Amino acid sequence: MMKFHILTLFPEMVQQGLATSILGRAAEKDLISIDAVNIRDYTQDKHGKVDDYTYGGGAGMLMQAQPVYDAWKAVAKPAEGKKPVRVLFMSPQGKTFSQEMAKELAQEEELIFLCGHYEGIDERVIEEIVTDPVSIGDYVLTGGELPAMVMIDAISRMVPGVLKNEDSGVTESFQENLLEYPQYSRPEEWHGKKVPEVLLSGNHKKINAWRLEQSERRTEERRPDLYAKYQEKQKVIKKLSAKKRIF
Ligand code: ADE
Repeated sequence: MMKFHILTLFPEMVQQGLATSILGRAAEKDLISIDAVNIRDYTQDKHGKVDDYTYGGGAGMLMQAQPVYDAWKAVAKPAEGKKPVRVLFMSPQGKTFSQEMAKELAQEEELIFLCGHYEGIDERVIEEIVTDPVSIGDYVLTGGELPAMVMIDAISRMVPGVLKNEDSGVTESFQENLLEYPQYSRPEEWHGKKVPEVLLSGNHKKINAWRLEQSERRTEERRPDLYAKYQEKQKVIKKLSAKKRIF
């Protein structure tokens, strides 16, 4: 069971967003658990306030250190003999999230996501609790909740049992730096477009060769950056198998 704790001012957004479809089913089957923690529940302010003006002036309000720290302390109880739980801070200043990162994070048993809102969070608490600042891309959102949901989705589908077809988490886009090949379902002809002949042939060797070819062409056209990586890897593989043949 992979445990996700999300520290946020909008727990219902995260809880609802992750309760449907594949992730909802994964939670029901106890393959993952989603624990959305309301930072506001931990404020020591009488009026439930969690934000204040920034020193030095400037636009907007900042989330204060105290409620964030106490919310983190409530979930980050280190289990005996285990390393501290990683705290991922959703921020445009973080390392850019990728499939590789999703795969790596899926190896953890537990993760804490810290979602900022307003103009951000007091730097001192970030320094004390965050282990990994992560961005989901070069654009600015109003809060960390959507980025946390994006990451939890991508990580969860790498957890064994979450996807019906165990294979599909690993064999698709990005795994080998290739995009997926096109796919077709019934009918055989739609809007005058026919399903490629080879897919009806039943010849799986031919089908696989066609799919690889399609993946390669697509990647070359749409993602030349990925295609360059793919070609580099292929070169290394060819070299290694050539060496093996000597012995
Ligand atoms: N918070 C605001 N924008 C973000 C982004 N692009 N990635 C992660 N967290 C964010």
